[in-house]
Amino acid sequence: MTTGLRKGLTSYGDAAFSLFHRKAFIKALGYSDDALDRPIVGITNTASDYNPCHGNMADLVESAKRGALLAGGLPMVFPTISIHESFAYPTSMYLRNLMAMDTEEMIRAQAMDAVVLIGGCDKTLPAQVMAAASVDLPAIVVATGPMSVGHYRGEVIGACTDCRRLWAQFRAGDLGETEIDVVSGRLAPTVGTCGVMGTASTMACVIETLGLALPMSATAPATHADRRRIAEASGQRAAEMAASGSPTPGRLITGASVRNAMVVLQAIGGSTNGLIHLTAIAGRASVAFDLELFDRLGREIPVLLNLKPSGSHYMEHFHAAGGLPALMRELRDLLDLTAPSVAGGTIADAIAGAEAVPNQDVIRTLANPLKPMGAMAVLHGNLAPRGAVIKQSAASPELMQHAGRAVVFDSAEDMAARIDRTDLDVHADDVLVLRNTGPKGAPGMPEAGYLPIPMKLARQGVKDMVRISDARMSGTAFGTIVLHIAPEAAVGGPLAVVQTGDRIRLDVEERRIDLLIDDDELARRLAAWRQMPPRPRPTRGYAKLFDRAVLQADQGCDFDFLLREPPPHS
Ligand code: FES
Repeated sequence: MTTGLRKGLTSYGDAAFSLFHRKAFIKALGYSDDALDRPIVGITNTASDYNPCHGNMADLVESAKRGALLAGGLPMVFPTISIHESFAYPTSMYLRNLMAMDTEEMIRAQAMDAVVLIGGCDKTLPAQVMAAASVDLPAIVVATGPMSVGHYRGEVIGACTDCRRLWAQFRAGDLGETEIDVVSGRLAPTVGTCGVMGTASTMACVIETLGLALPMSATAPATHADRRRIAEASGQRAAEMAASGSPTPGRLITGASVRNAMVVLQAIGGSTNGLIHLTAIAGRASVAFDLELFDRLGREIPVLLNLKPSGSHYMEHFHAAGGLPALMRELRDLLDLTAPSVAGGTIADAIAGAEAVPNQDVIRTLANPLKPMGAMAVLHGNLAPRGAVIKQSAASPELMQHAGRAVVFDSAEDMAARIDRTDLDVHADDVLVLRNTGPKGAPGMPEAGYLPIPMKLARQGVKDMVRISDARMSGTAFGTIVLHIAPEAAVGGPLAVVQTGDRIRLDVEERRIDLLIDDDELARRLAAWRQMPPRPRPTRGYAKLFDRAVLQADQGCDFDFLLREPPPHS
């Protein structure tokens, strides 16, 4: 097998010339023949002025390079797409698969024997792991790490659960313009990813659980020396893997490790986005993702992690409490401890190295959980034949069984135009319905599922309502919110035929979300459904590719042509 600089030679019809040509050019950077004969460690650089979550990228790249050199490898840094949540139009999810394709093709195209994937903001780590799983080259992940907390009037705050909470206070008139301006400068006091159990932290935990990152790598704060040492150690490990050729992601992403990741996703109060990304990652490794198993685990496994939005602490506190290895120690009887880790051992070895931190309230025990059930429940019913999800750990207990009158918004634009109108006919016990916000409909399934409480109800003190949609929501958000309804309205799913005034029933215990009309009426409406006005279809470029190939939420919103196996519902 060819390795190092000899890998993937450019096609000139003469392999010896291709190598000579490659060396001639790379020597322009001053490399010696000795350096060029080493195993090559590719290192992704996802720095971008648009991405403050990756604001420590230069430090991490430098540390990973040092590690690779210490272990006798040749580090080669290369750029890929970078995606930040608030600088991604129309939504970051629309770009995740593009980043996965970019990363995959750059790993394939350029000579490297192993790769260090450095990312962090929500969609970046899933995109990178999807890519690495597809190439199946030895890979190790370094998250950029969570930001530190801020303070406002003696209260600890952080992006971005508190962004939503404080914005809701501003909308309700409890905070003024000056105060909200001050808050905007305190919510993200350092570089790094959101400091709560949002999607970025969720995916960092999922990836460490899958064995694709070193122990403690999910939690070390972005600005701590620990973070740089983890990057150095990851570069070192990557050089060893480059020399040995293993383990590849295919050996790490297995049925056992995906089940472990499901357990952790439930126990950390993880983001609903994490479910979509884990499904997509599993799909790239030919591992079937079983939504029903995920739901059953949610009935058995309580939320142990006391982090926002389900609890009260932040990621830096999780790190100080022992990080993911300490959490997995609590879950050890529920995990497959023989699952291998990129560190060289198994999950059992990571747990054996976990720090014991006395008198902490961040990682609860199974005997004293934060919530009696897992983070998420998977719902079915006549509104969601292929499933929907609710983050029950961040929902209102009194709304978990609820029937109410539907108030329907046809799109995110329709909702924005009407939700705060004083003449909107809406009451606190209604069910807000948002549609045409799924993978194809919006497109890209924006995080619009966190419908704001209508202004006139917010001003009456209403804090939560049942809200349902085919959209996603930020992992930092909270409320009784049903998401990812599949099939989505834009392809004729039942959500498309709900009418304002219909009654909808949510029953989380029974795992049901139903439109309370009889079957014949539902069938009649579905048969008569025509999207009006017809959805404009893109005619060129990535938008056309996305529209043609994106799969539904229950299949991870991957592109149909990128799965290892043909998907069941393509
Ligand atoms: Fe980047 Fe939250 S916006 S992690």
